Amino acid sequence: MTASDKTIDPGISGRLLDWYDAHARVLPWRAPPGEPPPDPYRVWLSEVMLQQTTVSAVKPYFARFVEAWPDVDALAAADEAEVMSAWAGLGYYSRARNLVKCAAEVAARGGFPQSETELRKLPGLGAYTAAAVAAIAFGERAVVVDANVERVVARLFAIEEPLPIARKAIRERADAITPHKRAGDFAQAMMDLGATICTARDPKCLLCPLADQCEGKRSGDPALLPIKPAKKARPQRKGRAYWIERDGAVWLVQRPGKGMLGGMRALPDDGWTARTDGSGNPPLAGEWASLGVVQHVFTHAALTLEVMRYCGKDTPQGQGDWWPVDRIDEAGLPTLFAKAARLAQAQAG
Ligand code: ADE
Repeated sequence: MTASDKTIDPGISGRLLDWYDAHARVLPWRAPPGEPPPDPYRVWLSEVMLQQTTVSAVKPYFARFVEAWPDVDALAAADEAEVMSAWAGLGYYSRARNLVKCAAEVAARGGFPQSETELRKLPGLGAYTAAAVAAIAFGERAVVVDANVERVVARLFAIEEPLPIARKAIRERADAITPHKRAGDFAQAMMDLGATICTARDPKCLLCPLADQCEGKRSGDPALLPIKPAKKARPQRKGRAYWIERDGAVWLVQRPGKGMLGGMRALPDDGWTARTDGSGNPPLAGEWASLGVVQHVFTHAALTLEVMRYCGKDTPQGQGDWWPVDRIDEAGLPTLFAKAARLAQAQAG
């Protein structure tokens, strides 16, 4: 099926765009409704940051990034370690590594490609991001489906298959209501509707511009849609992080480029990602004291990390840096290790 041989319902998109004209959220990477598209660099950067991350968490990071690297050429020339450090706390760190790679590719070709198909070939641009950038920055009629849009469409058309099977029908329906004009505004209007009105647990149908069209509302309880698959229990992991302090400085390492928290600065640890009992060897032989534990939840596992302080006098071998403890906030530690560092400092103080 192509866009040209199916019916596009002007009612839904028209109503939604009217609502967006009046209620669009004002966001730093957006153009106001109906205005020419914003800078593709800002659209791309925000869309990468917004994957799996809330608008409120992204805003301060976005502001710092565009201040430090105002365009794609600046980001392409950036020191990767600095970018990783600026990303610290935002999670899903492979996004930051791909960001620098992608910026280099875009700068080398003289700018962003303008079609969804070409955007999809850039490092780190999955189906969602390519469609979002094509629609928002270049006005292409791309079908943009994120979790908010998924929820709105599943309710609007009362799609009762469970996820992920429902994704095919959701996509077809989203395609059928995407207009040829203002595709970027339409995509963002769907996101705003999902984020502010058609919310996961408490849809505010009385305020919804699409309430009259909504089959989910008509059929009973729209909050039940989309039907989620049963949640698997998160595996519980245990591990240890090692605090080695000397003369007001702590020993930090850089994690390997691939894998969990790849490329990020960190405390040395026992390789907890690979085992369940945290029984790896410490980086130095000798006496260690337990400072307590921190808890951290990743997407695929929950971790209990015991923080161990070194009591001996030996110097760690291998790659690493002594970082001033009183400037640990500037080390760009991912959240897990920032928590561990706070615990160590609290115990010391
Ligand atoms: N989530 C992902 N992309 C977004 C956007 N452009 N506006 C608001 N929320 C979003």
